[in-house]
Amino acid sequence: MRDIPVRQMVMSSGFRPWLITGHAEVRAALADQRFAKDSHRVAEMLDRHSLAGTDSLFGQSLLHHMLNTDPPEHGRLRGLVNKAFTPRAVERLRPRIEEICDELLDALGGRQHVDLLAVFAVPLPIKVICELLGVPQEDREEFRSWSNALVSALPREVVTEASNAMADYLHGLIKAKEQDPGEDMLSALVHARDGGDRLTADELVSMACLLLAAGHETTVNLIGNGVLALLTHPDQLASLRDDPTRLPGAIEEFLRYDSPINQATLRFTTEPVEIAGVRIPEGEFVMLNIDSANHDARRYADPDVLDIGRDEGGHLAFGHGIHYCLGAPLARLEAEIAFTKLLGRYGRIDLAVPAEQLEWRFSVVMRGLERLPVRLSRT
Ligand code: HEM
Repeated sequence: MRDIPVRQMVMSSGFRPWLITGHAEVRAALADQRFAKDSHRVAEMLDRHSLAGTDSLFGQSLLHHMLNTDPPEHGRLRGLVNKAFTPRAVERLRPRIEEICDELLDALGGRQHVDLLAVFAVPLPIKVICELLGVPQEDREEFRSWSNALVSALPREVVTEASNAMADYLHGLIKAKEQDPGEDMLSALVHARDGGDRLTADELVSMACLLLAAGHETTVNLIGNGVLALLTHPDQLASLRDDPTRLPGAIEEFLRYDSPINQATLRFTTEPVEIAGVRIPEGEFVMLNIDSANHDARRYADPDVLDIGRDEGGHLAFGHGIHYCLGAPLARLEAEIAFTKLLGRYGRIDLAVPAEQLEWRFSVVMRGLERLPVRLSRT
């Protein structure tokens, strides 16, 4: 498919989106403002062609967030939370993230057979992002189910219901923070809104939803897909255990090899654009395939081989350009701590079922497992 890096598809509904799959081309499109978000037109298009689940956060009430906006709106929204997500700010969370990982692993006691997603990869990022935003402990399970619905390919009504429930809940939580602010990010955003009139109530709720949903679903997949990659490549696992300083490189390779957001990052052309010698007219719907770009043989030697010692860099798992993932430093830190704790505690980890029997979640946006059954052993 990557032999033709830009092409137009024809779907059974008659919908004719463009698909970009080459690394250079996806990267160029992500940096090019003529490939805009234009969220209203994209939402309308998804609705018309019943592509539920194609983009995670298009519920009507949750439309006004940075990932769905173009400049200058985008810069204003991103600027409000940028500071909290710099590598330096995120580094301050290290001790708390370590504590959460320890608690989750302690809770396993001597259990040997576990679903590593359910007991570790899923609760870790939820706890971190909920604490950061100030979502009370007792509400977190509910969050998980709403956010699951938002990124899955469930019927449109289910997605809308989940997004409405999440929005209602957040409106309530924001009211509570107005009266009784805490040290958390939601309280700070409420303050920013009240201080400079820079954020409407809808924008605030959308921002919180984006951070909550983008902040955990993806990181779950980074940990889950990364563990699976190691367990199915024992030589790479041994090399990492031999020299733990290889971990940061290994995490970049997990991101490239099995990207948590793999397929559709969506854009809309605001004027005709020529890319790889192909002319895409104005007003066209364009899907940028990150996973395909990360496996482009023109960019990576042996792209389908997992090699934690690779030094080619430049994967697009966190996107590129103005929408480059705000949470990348946090995701990297969580993954670094998660792998360190897991491999440090268990001298042996094996898949409990053959890899071919593992089920992948049905989503057009995310690439992640349903379950990851493993056998853990301390020796
Ligand atoms: C944007 C991937 C974790 C918050 C993005 C984009 C990608 C991405 C590909 C760009 C989408 C586009 O251009 O259309 C990932 C992956 C993650 C991860 C693979 C984990 C491994 C996180 C975390 C947070 C987060 C932990 C927040 C706590 C965001 C936000 C944006 C974004 C707010 C929108 C930025 C903007 O529009 O300016 N992410 N993400 N992400 N991500 Fe992440």
